[in-house]
Amino acid sequence: MRTVSFNINGIDAEAPEGSTILEAAKYAGVEIPSLCYLKDVSNIASCRICVVELIGRPTLVAACAAPVEEGMRILTNSPRVRKSRKLSLELILSNHKKKCLSCAKNNHCELQRLSLEYGVDEDYFMSHVPDTEIDDASPYLVRDNSKCILCRRCVGACKNVQSISVIGAANRGYETSIGCAFEKSLADSPCVGCGQCVVACPVGALTVKSNADAVWEALADPEKTVVFFTAPAVRATLGEMFGRPIGTNVEGQMTAAIRRLGADLVFDMNITADLTIMEEAAELIDRVKNKKTLPMFTSCCPGWVKFLEHYYPDMLEHLSTCKSPQQMFGAVLKSYYCEKNHIDPKNLFVVSVIPCTSKKFEITREEQMRGGMQDVDVALTTKELGQMIQTAGIQFESLEPEPFDDPFGVSTGAAVIFGATGGVMEAALRTAAYHLDGQSELVEFQDVRGTDGIREASYFIGGVEVNVAVASGLANARKVVEMIRSGEKDYTMVEIMACPGGCINGGGQPDQPDKVRNTVDLKAVRAKALYDSDVSNTLRKSHESPVMELLYSEYFDQPNSHKAHELLHTNYVERGQF
Ligand code: FES
Repeated sequence: MRTVSFNINGIDAEAPEGSTILEAAKYAGVEIPSLCYLKDVSNIASCRICVVELIGRPTLVAACAAPVEEGMRILTNSPRVRKSRKLSLELILSNHKKKCLSCAKNNHCELQRLSLEYGVDEDYFMSHVPDTEIDDASPYLVRDNSKCILCRRCVGACKNVQSISVIGAANRGYETSIGCAFEKSLADSPCVGCGQCVVACPVGALTVKSNADAVWEALADPEKTVVFFTAPAVRATLGEMFGRPIGTNVEGQMTAAIRRLGADLVFDMNITADLTIMEEAAELIDRVKNKKTLPMFTSCCPGWVKFLEHYYPDMLEHLSTCKSPQQMFGAVLKSYYCEKNHIDPKNLFVVSVIPCTSKKFEITREEQMRGGMQDVDVALTTKELGQMIQTAGIQFESLEPEPFDDPFGVSTGAAVIFGATGGVMEAALRTAAYHLDGQSELVEFQDVRGTDGIREASYFIGGVEVNVAVASGLANARKVVEMIRSGEKDYTMVEIMACPGGCINGGGQPDQPDKVRNTVDLKAVRAKALYDSDVSNTLRKSHESPVMELLYSEYFDQPNSHKAHELLHTNYVERGQF
């Protein structure tokens, strides 16, 4: 690798050729503040917060866009630089609704942090805050343009990462705003609800719609039995809200904290990740043996499912008919569990804890309701759960780990890796290998792991060549779908996760500011917690789970049975693009 030598704040340093000044500074241990820039998402150099002074050059330059050059002498904190940054912040604040106390981003707002660091007076310039209507019509996101700072990170996430572009800039000058075409609400647009715009937003202009009040109400209702179940990825990230290092698995403390919130039962959604594999592997084998539509697409990710419904309705027959683990768990609880425990399903209040914003939409899907009732009453994000724990004054850090409740507490390593891209594929391959040729020793399928946007692998299982592809991020998903559609690629099974890196990087995960996102590979560090959990589990394949044995012997009979189809499978809806 060729390097460039430069001097920054009087210190000599080197960085790889082609680095921007912002990236190069990190090699010298210097952090340059940024606001509109977000690695892999947006680089439009509009906010001017990252400006630096180059000795011998008349103008300040934006470090996020300017390349470092041989012999460059850079000042990142000169009086001129600091004055310029302060002025930029004051101008940005003049257009920003400063209602910080009630803002969902309070204490996590990047504009708030920078203003504090630069001693900015919020009223230096006369305010010109746009008078806009809050868009809260969708079940998952709230958009408040009066807090928007026009950094366009959300636009970059929607366009560059997800290839969807349902939001963009409209109008000019003071009138510029970010929104959907024809000023439609997000709910009326072909938005898939992935929440990557929320992840990218540095302020409180885009936030996740909170359902915590409904949960507090149910917890206080003596008529209700309140059941929580938590998705695999939540245990790998919840600790970030309580000062634990990124990638710490806090499964036991999470369970203990939910009990202290007042939940009657705390179950593990890994159970229905295992159940998904049982059903999905049976479906795959049926498709292969009976020459039905291939490749089979995984259907666990509701953002991906909605994407296909909007943009590729002609490909819907490729989607596995399996409901997602969230929806399977709701159905199992409101059927099997209620019948077994003589509970009226109306009195069972089911809360799923998920890393995902699109799952808030998924629980409302009409085709998955039974008798007009949702199987999952509320989908809470990891962040909402963390906030409830904080509100309740539970000392998370001092809690002793506690196990999940029976009978849905024992799951496999195959299930926990559902939270990372490639995890569903690997779990399916483990069980498919067992069914197709009894290769019980085949456990790890390393080729489908990793954080590259698209991965491919081929395996010979039971004398059959199985070609698979894994993609995360919908721009990558689009490439894979287009290749299949054109006949360029011929796969047996394809796993897609809407969020880059999978659920561990979902729209409902704890906030991490740009200074972390620009330097830490969150996808890899968070995923490691799940792969470590897989290795430490004595059960590594879904079909080895004693809970699967229980569910099939007592209720479903066998995978893809009539009963299983009634409760665990679904159909899809063609949706328009406008
Ligand atoms: Fe560089 Fe905005 S101009 S971060």
